[in-house]
Parts: sequence; structure tokens; C-alpha cells
Amino acid sequence: MGISFFNTDISPEAVKRASRTLKSTWVSEGKLVKQFEAELAGRLGLKNPVALNSCTSALHLALAVSGVGPGDEVIIPAQTFIATGLAVLMQSAKPVFADIQIDTGNIDPESVRKKITGKTKAIMPVHWGGYPCDLDEINALAKQFKLSVIEDAAHALGAVYKNKPIGAVSRFTAFSFQAIKHLTTADGGALCCMSAVDLKKAMARRWFGIDRKNSKLSILGERQYNVQEVGYKYHMNDLSAAIGLGNLVDFKANLKRRQKIAEFYRKKLGNIPGLKLLNCANDRKSACWLFTLLVEDRLNFIKKLREHGIPASVVHQRIDKNDVFGGISPDLVNQAVFNEHQISIPLHNKLTDGQVNKIVKVINQGW
Ligand SMILES: Cc1ncc(COP(=O)(O)O)c(C=O)c1O
Repeated sequence: MGISFFNTDISPEAVKRASRTLKSTWVSEGKLVKQFEAELAGRLGLKNPVALNSCTSALHLALAVSGVGPGDEVIIPAQTFIATGLAVLMQSAKPVFADIQIDTGNIDPESVRKKITGKTKAIMPVHWGGYPCDLDEINALAKQFKLSVIEDAAHALGAVYKNKPIGAVSRFTAFSFQAIKHLTTADGGALCCMSAVDLKKAMARRWFGIDRKNSKLSILGERQYNVQEVGYKYHMNDLSAAIGLGNLVDFKANLKRRQKIAEFYRKKLGNIPGLKLLNCANDRKSACWLFTLLVEDRLNFIKKLREHGIPASVVHQRIDKNDVFGGISPDLVNQAVFNEHQISIPLHNKLTDGQVNKIVKVINQGW
């Protein structure tokens, strides 16, 4: 078997539960979505997770619930997937790009501070590859300037920051359960809410603004509701929840395997000329979705690995270069260097020890 860069992990239990759900014919949002939310909270310590159909929906919903609107500014890194920036545009707000830390790929709180203006309403840190951002510093800025923090944790399910799970630190945290993420529901996401007020709003606005819990059926048959704010069709369905529940069973073991491989990479790739590992502090634990390196001669590195059947990839290039955001922000000094040198090597739970050893051996030969 060749070495794959990503994997889509659908456990036999997920197949069983999905099949049972299909046979039941109840495939819309129902009791499995509730159960999935309860298990995300119970097993992983996520705070008030609201299950949705994607992380993009979660990011957008958080911005809407935060009251971010036309003309407001939201500070984000460029080192992310385009979804982070598009969610801001969906609210007719302006993404303002802050620089990243060269040694983590995460947003730099000092750069965030410099980008805050009277129009800033929110900060959206992205945990690059699953490694937690400096959340204390970011939340301190948010408190000082009365901003909302919406963590884009698409890569970070299972990550820990100062003994707290990501998903239980800031006002909002958005997760992705898309096909190649640690935990997949085919497509899906969750928005964690620290406050009960935000939770209630997110629950209603994920389904057209209708509060299912508190809207009774009328004698005519339809629910009685009077929608006050724009709502969306962002809820998760029971078929996705069934897959998620099935995949949750092995989630922790799979995460451990990823973390073990990453640890091995760190041990074996730490002293190679022309290659730098990203930082890994003791006060946080990465969810290890990606293993990104900074490599001097990146093209030859990629070629060498490909010659040996090892895929290496730049997972996301800086997003500010897209016309929709107005083009490259010239002041992002670290971002420019990171963009030129970043490269990720395979990291997932289905890699065998033999494959991991081969990757390490080939890189150690030089390129
Ligand atoms: C950083 C980041 N944010 C958001 C998303 C969007 O996630 P989804 O596909 O679940 O909408 C992704 C997708 O990979 C991502 O990498």
C-alpha cells in the first residue's frame, strides 16, 4: 500500500450506525444529533457544542450571533483555509489580516494588537495544524477592547490549552467534521458556546431562527413561531450524527496514534540542516492534524520525497492573495517567509510504523 497524505476514517461502528439510521428513515435532525452533542461534551469536554453541517457554517453563525455586521472588522490570520475569510465576508464585514508567528504558523497576538481599530469586533485565531494559539493573550486583548473571540479549530479537535480542551476556552470555537478531519461525519461541524445566551441563539439560528425547543405545534400542524432574526439551514442531520457517533468510539485512540507519530517525527527530524520544526510548548498539546515543516529548498524536498512514493504538500497557502480579499497584505513579514517554506508531510492514524520509518529515513538522506 502506498503512503497517503490524508485518510478518511470511517469505522465499522460508523457504518453500522449509519446503516441503521438509513433503515429507520429518520435522517433529518433528531435524537442522534442531540446524542452526538452530548457525547462531544461528555467524552471530549467541549462546551455546549451545537452540531452543524460544516465548520464554515459554524464560523459564520458565530459571527452572526456575535452581532458582527456591515463595515465591522474581524482580525484573522492569512495562514488558513479560505473559509475563515469568506465567513467574515458573508456578514459584509472586513477581514483584517494579522501576521503569524514564524515558529508556529499561528496568529501573533502582538500583530493582532496593532491591527485593532474602532471598527474591530472580533478575532478569529486559527490553530494551525491543530497546535493551539496563544489564547490567554488573545482573550486578554478581546477583554480589553470588548471583542468576541471565535476560534477556528477546524484542525484542532482533541487539542489542549493549559489543561483545558480546545472548545472550552473562548466565547466561541468552531470545529470541522469534514471527510479528512480527525473525526468525520462526511461533512459537518460544531460551534461551542461558552455562554447559555449564545447557545440559545446559535441553536435557534442554525435552523432558520426557529427555537425548536420552545415552539409548540399548532392545531393546524405547523410549529408556532415568529422569527426575529435571520436564521440559516446549518443544522446537522441524524445520518451525519450517526457516522460521528460511530467514529467517536475510536477518536481518542486515533488521536494518540497521530500524537505518537508526531513525537517520533520531532525526535528524528530535529537536527537536519535546511529543515526547521515548528514549536511545541509544554503548556499545550497539539491535535496533530498536520505536521508542517519549514524547509529551505522546498521544491527539491518535495521531489525527493515523491521519488520515494512519499506525498508532501502545502495544505493551505496564504489566503489574503485572493482577489476577494483585495490581494496580498504586504506588511505580513512572517507570513511571507512561512508561505515560501512551509511543507507538510503525512500524518494520520493509518500510517504504519514501516511507513513512518521510511519517511524519516528518506528525509534524513537529504534532498
Ligand atoms: C482552517 C479551516 N477553517 C475552516 C475550514 C472549513 O471547514 P468545513 O469544510 O467543515 O466547512 C477548514 C477546512 O478544511 C479549515 O482548514
